[in-house]
Amino acid sequence: WKLHAPYIAAINELKKKRGAVILAHNYMTPEIFRCVGDFAGDSLQLAKEAAKTDAKVIVQAGVHFMAETSKILCPDKTVLIPDLRAGCSLAASITAADVRLLKQKYPGVPVVTYVNTSAAVKAESDICCTSSNAVEVVEHICAERGSDAVIFLPDQYLARNVAAMTDIRVITWAGACEVHERFTAEDIREIREAHPGVVVLAHPECPPDVLAEADFAGSTSGMSDYVKENQPKNVVLITECSMSDNVALENPDVTFVRPCNLCPHMKRITLQGILRSLETMTHEVTVDPEVAARARRAIERMIALPL
Ligand code: 13P
Ligand code: SF4
Repeated sequence: WKLHAPYIAAINELKKKRGAVILAHNYMTPEIFRCVGDFAGDSLQLAKEAAKTDAKVIVQAGVHFMAETSKILCPDKTVLIPDLRAGCSLAASITAADVRLLKQKYPGVPVVTYVNTSAAVKAESDICCTSSNAVEVVEHICAERGSDAVIFLPDQYLARNVAAMTDIRVITWAGACEVHERFTAEDIREIREAHPGVVVLAHPECPPDVLAEADFAGSTSGMSDYVKENQPKNVVLITECSMSDNVALENPDVTFVRPCNLCPHMKRITLQGILRSLETMTHEVTVDPEVAARARRAIERMIALPL
């Protein structure tokens, strides 16, 4: 903390001067999540905060698709990302041209895209979803369109997990989160054997056989709320490493078993990077206005749902 303190002080000072707000995803390290983030949360919560903030500048302590979402929702604000290399294996797995081909192959079938996609992919879709509302969004759009099928992109595992919870036929893509796809059902069985009574919470980007072994599946904030509300004696969060660090700080009586996978993209965001970003006002995230207008429709449709 001694090393972090000067950066934290400088960021909080400069943030005020710039009229900036820092939106921090749950996978940020605790010194970012707790000490400089103005709002912390899952993808849906961060998008909602971006949509309602009065700040002139948004610093996205997260990955590039999150910064694009903020820019799409706030075209007149300056949106900064501390490191342009903070990508996402899901967002990188599919292009707008791929979506157009799928729409040609399945005419009339509504398209739901996970927020972990580029602005150009969102622009091709009917509505976006996040891990906290995927089932409800799919059911909503299919009911609205009178469709018994949906094109759900690009996460094959989230798609299969959604399919298991509805009667809707789900057409998907071969994308995967490089962090969550590495967990196996065998990992969970070994954890249970080594830690009898442990409560297992898993992110829905994990493969279906992993979720089948878990006690609860939910978004990053869903898992955090579960721990807060249930105060399990022993818990394991099957997700990115920083989650346990952040949730543990808020739940001192809970013991965390900690196998985890690091997201190399999220970990590109550091205190030093955030300070540099505010000092130099870089890297500014821009989205082509025509693409942004179409993508905004899909994101705003999701935000407007009463979920
Ligand atoms: P949520 O925070 O919406 O659960 O998403 C997890 C994730 O992988 C974001 O990159
Ligand atoms: Fe993408 Fe997975 Fe990293 Fe989230 S954790 S940014 S989904 S690679």
